[in-house]
Amino acid sequence: MKAFLTRETYDTPLLAEKLSVAGIDLEVRTDSSVCPREVLEQQVSRVDALLTHTEDEIDADLLSRAAPQLRVVANMGIGFSNIDVAAARARGVIVTNTPTEEAFEATAEATVAILLSVARRIPALHVERRALTCDPDPSFLRATATSVRGKTLGIVGMGRIGSRVARIMHGGFGNRIQYFDLVAKPELEEALGARRVDLPTLMRSSDLIAVNMPLSQQTRNLISAEMIDLMQDHATFVNTARGELVDEPALVARLNAGKLHGAGLDVYGPAVDDIQFDNIALTSHFANFEDQAYTAMTTLVADNVVSALTTGQALTPVKE
Ligand SMILES: NC(=O)c1ccc[n+]([C@@H]2O[C@H](COP(=O)([O-])OP(=O)(O)OC[C@H]3O[C@@H](n4cnc5c(N)ncnc54)[C@H](O)[C@@H]3O)[C@@H](O)[C@H]2O)c1
Repeated sequence: MKAFLTRETYDTPLLAEKLSVAGIDLEVRTDSSVCPREVLEQQVSRVDALLTHTEDEIDADLLSRAAPQLRVVANMGIGFSNIDVAAARARGVIVTNTPTEEAFEATAEATVAILLSVARRIPALHVERRALTCDPDPSFLRATATSVRGKTLGIVGMGRIGSRVARIMHGGFGNRIQYFDLVAKPELEEALGARRVDLPTLMRSSDLIAVNMPLSQQTRNLISAEMIDLMQDHATFVNTARGELVDEPALVARLNAGKLHGAGLDVYGPAVDDIQFDNIALTSHFANFEDQAYTAMTTLVADNVVSALTTGQALTPVKE
């Protein structure tokens, strides 16, 4: 049986070893860039298992080129908005993701890390210091950091990651928690005193905002220009979910006007290249790219592929 991994990861030897034990040959694309479309087209027509990253577009057209033996598309990540799950199902192809505890913890930890660093202006101070040859004599008239303790944190999407962010920020910094979600979370309301509110209320009344909502047809552009307009000028905004949830040109315009404390974005589109404002942290979809989470996710990808190819059932198949 043959499998193809679209981009090498630091845990590829572990993956190859686990597949090899089950009689599956893994071909690895060693280039570190996003896999070109033509390579995906070529590989999908010859393998039993396609091992993808969240940047790989696995749409209906690509799946129509799949070999009859393609049984599983195993995505390395919790999100799977890059895959047309309905088109895969129509061809009898199982789609899997990697919802491990470690990945939830890692993404929540990264969300908190970005939130704290932007609130305290660490990215801006870092850039400022790196541009100098010696320690500056700092002006006390320049922009100040903002405290995190005792603030109101608004969480957009109180799921596995959002609820962990809420617990950390409530327990560690005494944040008042409010959230926007389709589903009420009575256990968090009880444990943290969290309050479920509508989205405009959350955007208008939060000091800190964390977006932890999956991307879907319903949530695309959820944080619209109108919602962005509602934020307070001192608010700190963090998105570690998906860039397409946010009207990014509107967010960029607000930042460039100096009308937000700052923003931290782990996921985004090209609009961020126009940001002039200094208090901005841009990371490259790294939130669960850490040792424990990545090893756990790699192990689950391997177990999913082995299980799908040998029993026809995966451990963590996704639903649309
Ligand atoms: N940056 C990264 O590296 C990284 C890592 C992991 C996950 N993510 C992203 O984070 C997202 C959230 O992950 P999770 O595991 O917490 O998801 P989850 O499914 O556990 O939680 C999502 C929450 O959003 C709510 N929700 C969904 N659709 C809604 C809608 N239309 N309106 C209101 N509420 C809605 C759900 O009720 C749920 O409570 C993932 O989908 C993924 O895109 C990013």
